[in-house]
Amino acid sequence: AQDAQIEKLISQMTLQEKVGQMAQITLDVIGKGKDRYSSFEPLALDTAELNKAILKYHVGSVLNTANNRARTPQVWHELINQMQAVATKKARLKIPIIYGIDAIHGTTYTAGATFFPQQIGQAATFNRNLVREGAEIAAYETRASGIRWNFSPVLDLGADPRFSRQWEGYGEDPYLGTALGLEAVKGYQGQLGQNGEIDAKHVAACLKHFLAYSAPASGKDRTPAYMSEQMLREYHLPAFKAAIEAGAATIMINSGLINNIPTHANYQILTKLLKEELNFKGLVVSDWGDIENLYRRDHIAANDKEAIMLAVNAGIDMSMIAYQYEVFCDNLVALVKEGKVKQERIDDAVRRVLRTKQQLGLFKNAVEKQKDYPKFADKTFQQAAYNTAAESITLLKNQNGVLPLAKNKKVFVTGPNANSMRTLNGGWSYSWQGEKVEDFAGQYNTILEAIQNEVGKANVQYAAGVSYKMTGSYYEEFADKLEEAVAQAAQSDVIVVCVGENSYTEKPGDLNDLYLSDLQTTLVQRLAATGKPVVVVLNEGRPRVISRFEQSVPAIVQAYLPGNFGGDAIADILFGDVNPSGKLPYNYPRYPNSVSTYYHKPSEEQKKAEGMYNYEADYNPQYEFGTGLSYTTFKYSNLQLSKNKLKVGESLSVSVDVTNTGTREGKETVLLYLSDKVASITPDVKRLKGFDKISLKPNETRKLTFTLSPAEMAFIGLDLKPTVEAGDFEVQVADQKAVFVCE
Ligand code: IFM
Repeated sequence: AQDAQIEKLISQMTLQEKVGQMAQITLDVIGKGKDRYSSFEPLALDTAELNKAILKYHVGSVLNTANNRARTPQVWHELINQMQAVATKKARLKIPIIYGIDAIHGTTYTAGATFFPQQIGQAATFNRNLVREGAEIAAYETRASGIRWNFSPVLDLGADPRFSRQWEGYGEDPYLGTALGLEAVKGYQGQLGQNGEIDAKHVAACLKHFLAYSAPASGKDRTPAYMSEQMLREYHLPAFKAAIEAGAATIMINSGLINNIPTHANYQILTKLLKEELNFKGLVVSDWGDIENLYRRDHIAANDKEAIMLAVNAGIDMSMIAYQYEVFCDNLVALVKEGKVKQERIDDAVRRVLRTKQQLGLFKNAVEKQKDYPKFADKTFQQAAYNTAAESITLLKNQNGVLPLAKNKKVFVTGPNANSMRTLNGGWSYSWQGEKVEDFAGQYNTILEAIQNEVGKANVQYAAGVSYKMTGSYYEEFADKLEEAVAQAAQSDVIVVCVGENSYTEKPGDLNDLYLSDLQTTLVQRLAATGKPVVVVLNEGRPRVISRFEQSVPAIVQAYLPGNFGGDAIADILFGDVNPSGKLPYNYPRYPNSVSTYYHKPSEEQKKAEGMYNYEADYNPQYEFGTGLSYTTFKYSNLQLSKNKLKVGESLSVSVDVTNTGTREGKETVLLYLSDKVASITPDVKRLKGFDKISLKPNETRKLTFTLSPAEMAFIGLDLKPTVEAGDFEVQVADQKAVFVCE
C-alpha cells in the first residue's frame, strides 16, 4: 500500500514537480532580507520567495544555513510549519517538504538543546550504550524542534589528524567506527516499523560522507584523495556498509576527489557500489554546492548544466544546491527533455525522496506540535550528556599521582581554553563554526567556572596567558598578559593550563602545522619552568603535537570537545570525584611528520630492529590508540582460546580475566586485537576486533568472553572480497597473548 501511494504520486507528477523534489535550498533563500548571506531574524520568512520556491519550482527540501542563529524549539516549529502550510495546502500535489539539519552532537541550532561531546569524544568512551543514548536524545530534541532529518553520523575514518573534520568522526579504527556508527543510526532512527517507518520521537539519519572524504593526501578539506579499491573497502567502507544494513535512511556524498574523480560524478561509487552492490534503497544527497563544484571547482564539466547531468546520472538523488535552485531545476528539466538524463533516473531519485518523507510520516502529519515534546532539555538528558563527557575524558599521563588534585590547595588556571564554552563545544554548536556559543554564556560552566565550583572561588586564580581572536572564519592567537600569568602561576600550589584549539569545521579548520601553536607551547613551557606541578588539559578537535613540552609536565588530560557539560566533567576528574575511563580513539602523533595509525604496517617499525636508521623517525606515537589511565589499576590474566586450531570459516571464543587491583572503583575498556601473521596482502600489525567496557570494584575480577568469527579474521583480498587465509593468528588483550592456527 505504501509503495502504491508513492507510485501513484509519481504518476501524477509533472517533470517540473519531480525535479523540484530533487532540490534542496538553504533557509537563507526563503528568509527575509535581500542579503542572503547574512543572518536574519527568527520568524521572517519571505512569502514571495517561499511561494516561488515551493509553488513555482516545487522545491522538496530545505536545510540550515551557514549563518543560522539558534532559535527556540517553538520558533523552529513556527518556521517549518509556515513552509509546510505552503507545501501541503497550496501546492497542487500537497507534498510536504523535508527539513534537514546538522544535529551532530545535539540539536545544533536550537537554543537550550542538550549538547553532547562531539563524536571523537563519544568514541573515546568506547561505550556503545552512551553513543546510542546520545543519538536517541539528539533525535528527540531535533523532533522537538520540528525537524526530522539529521545529517549525522559522520562515518569517515579519522586516520589523519591533519584533517579539519577528524573530530566529527569516531577516530581512526574501522571496527570502533563501525560499532559506534551502528549505535548512532539505531539511536537516531529508533526501532523501524515494518515498512521502515521512523516514529515521532526519531529522525532520519544521514551517513556522511560517502566515501573516503577524510583521506585527502594534503590533509586539507576537499582536496584529492588517492586510494586503491582494496583500501577503500578495507578501511573506509565497513562503517557505511553496516549502517546501511541497519536501515540508515539517507547518505551524503564526499565533496572531494578520489583518484582524480569527483565523488559527486562517480557512477562506480554512487550507483555500482552504493545502490547496486550495497543495495542502498535510501536517499543520496549531495553536499553543499557540490554539483555546481563539478563545473566551478573540479573542471570536469564545462557549465552548470553538464555538471548536473554528470551528478544525476552518477546517482545523486537530491542536490543540496543551497542558493541557485532555479539553475538546477531548469537545467535538469531541459536535460530530461533532451534525453541526456533518463526519465527512469529521475523517477528513481524522486521515489527515494518521497519514500524518505513517507518513512518520516510527513504525508500523514507534516505539522507537529512543540508541546508533544515536553522532555526537551530534560535534566535526564543533561545528565546523559555529562555522563558521556565524563566517560570520554582521557588521562594520558599522571606522574607521581599528581592527579587527582587536593581540594584545599591554591589552583592557578590559565590558557586560552580555560574560560570558553566555545572551545568546549567546537563547531556545529549554535552555528556552523561554533561562534554563537558565547551567547549562551552563564548557562553552563567553563573549565574555570567548574573548578571554582569544585574548590571555591577563593582558592582559584585565573589569567588567560594566551587568547583567541577571530579574523573572519579563522582565528588567531595573541599573548594575553602572558608574563603576568606566569608570575601569578609561580605563587600557586598547582597549575591547570587549558590549551588546544578554538572551534572550527570544514575548510576554515585547515592547518599548516600540526604542532600546538608556538604561543601556547611557550605558555606551557614557561609554566613548567616555575617548578610548580603543571596539569595540561587538552581541549582540541585533533591531536596537536605536544612533544615540545610533554616531558616537562607531570599530568596530561585529553578532553576533546566535550560539550556543554564538559567543564564540569573535567573538573570532576581533575579533583577525583570521577575516575577517568576514556581511551584514545586514535594515535597521538609525536611529530607532525610522523603520523601513523596503531594498525600501521610492519615496515613502519622495522628500522629499530635493524639499528641503522634514525630511531626517532620510526613508529613511535606520543600515545598509542587505546591509551587511557585510571585512578585505579587493572590486571589482566588467564587469556584463553576455545581452540588453538580451526578450519577456515570457523569461529572461536576468547576469554580473559580482568581484576581491579587498585583501591577505588573504576571503569575499564577491554580491547581485543588480532594479528594475521602472514597474508597475501601485507597485514596490519594488529587490528581491533572486539571491545567491551566494564566497571569493577576494588579486588573484583570479571571474566569477559569475545567471539572471533570469520568476519573478524577476514581482510579484503586481492579479489576485493573478504578473505580468510590459512595460517597463524595472534590474539592480544592488554599484556596477554595467545596464538591459533587456521587450517
Ligand atoms: O552536512 C553538512 C556537511 O557535513 C558539510 N557541508 C554542509 C552540510 C550541510 O550543512
